Amino acid sequence: MSDRYLNLVNSPVGSAVASRVGLPRPSVLRRYSAGDPLLPGPLLLGSTSGKPTAALRKLLTTAGAEVLDTLGETDRLAAVVLDARSVATPRDLSGLREFLAPGLKALGSSGRVIVLGTPTDGADITADAARQALDGIVRSLAKELRRGATANLLWVADDASLASALRFFLSGKSAYVDGQPLLLGAGKAPAPKDWDQPLAGKTALVTGAARGIGAAIAGVLARDGAHVIVADLTSAGEALAKVANRVGGTALHLDVASDKAPERLLEHLAAHTKGLDVLVHNAGITRDKLLANMKPEQWDSVIAVNLESQLRIDAALLGSDQLNAQARVVCLSSTTGLSGNRGQTNYGATKAGVLGLVRSSAAAFAAHGDSTINAIAPGFIDTEMTAKMPLATREVARRLSSLQQAGLPIDVAEAVSWLSSPGAGGVNGQVLRVCGQNLVGA
Ligand SMILES: NC(=O)c1ccc[n+]([C@@H]2O[C@H](COP(=O)([O-])OP(=O)(O)OC[C@H]3O[C@@H](n4cnc5c(N)ncnc54)[C@H](O)[C@@H]3O)[C@@H](O)[C@H]2O)c1
Repeated sequence: MSDRYLNLVNSPVGSAVASRVGLPRPSVLRRYSAGDPLLPGPLLLGSTSGKPTAALRKLLTTAGAEVLDTLGETDRLAAVVLDARSVATPRDLSGLREFLAPGLKALGSSGRVIVLGTPTDGADITADAARQALDGIVRSLAKELRRGATANLLWVADDASLASALRFFLSGKSAYVDGQPLLLGAGKAPAPKDWDQPLAGKTALVTGAARGIGAAIAGVLARDGAHVIVADLTSAGEALAKVANRVGGTALHLDVASDKAPERLLEHLAAHTKGLDVLVHNAGITRDKLLANMKPEQWDSVIAVNLESQLRIDAALLGSDQLNAQARVVCLSSTTGLSGNRGQTNYGATKAGVLGLVRSSAAAFAAHGDSTINAIAPGFIDTEMTAKMPLATREVARRLSSLQQAGLPIDVAEAVSWLSSPGAGGVNGQVLRVCGQNLVGA
């Protein structure tokens, strides 16, 4: 569904009218297409310690960035990266302001601001207070940026690999990830042989893949090199077959909520694959009603499809020989699971439950040959699910984020594919919001 308002305010006449009467003016976001350079312009690099490390500079130049140390008067920047890992007292925070202020004024459309911080560790109260302050700075800054620019914070643990995360957050693949902190831990995060095909040789399975976000995820995983098994209800058969053909994958009829689903899945993997490398729990349903009026079947079906299925399938895979080492599991949560939503106690239960599931099973997946499990929490994404909303509610929801527009299924798919890649091995047990910094629960 196209966003007519966004198209209108990006036309010459619409833009002038919106500006005059003070209406929101969402920008067309820079999204990735194959062959794109990492950034459309130079990147300004700085450090609160005075000088950025040679290792960080090398990572950025190897990824294809043109790195500037100082800002010329006429420079137009595509990105600003500040290494703030040395911040240890509240006074040190003024270094951020000094470095970022001029860079922000030179930041172009869909620009990127990335701040690197040291995670808090409970060892030093002053240092932890100053480090946590970065979170407040980046979240607030993200709300100040305009023209599709984003700001995100990477907490970098000792020995964490930054290469893959920097590429994701600088590129158009992270177009709708804004105002988010993410912890990069020390988990194994090997660089792929080919950065354009990070999933080459991997087998992936996406549930609920016949349409919407699931179909987009299947497409991006295939683009990134994976063989994709697309699974959905038998009733979605024709649409599912089309997705399978489009991504050069295999279709599997699987009701994830059925008692036999884990067994059927294992049988399919044993018969047709050399084990599973990537599992995306995407199948999900809504049955909205105020709690006072909710029928038992509305409650139970949502719990069964959105949460119980994930628990049962994960347990079966971990207990089998069908899950390969360094596997990646990505679970679809929702910002509703973080902030709540009227009429969605059942759905909110499942989407918050997924966050508990992910946090609690991270250690078990790490013990399984350095595998990981993470959640993605999409905000408002234009799909058939959200198309069912009343027009006025949908229009308001679209503007309720720092980027003033809905996300697209591709935005969620890019984040899923990144978390599915070998280089994202340092991220485990976490939730990444793909919500344009949705103002609800942000
Ligand atoms: N669209 C949004 O704004 C949004 C926001 C946050 C989270 N999400 C989550 O993202 C996921 C995908 O959402 P979407 O908008 O693409 O939904 P959608 O309704 O367009 O697609 C969901 C797919 O899941 C399939 N499915 C439903 N029950 C199933 C079952 N028992 N077994 C197998 N497949 C089943 C459906 O047939 C359908 O193809 C869901 O988990 C949803 O909760 C969506």
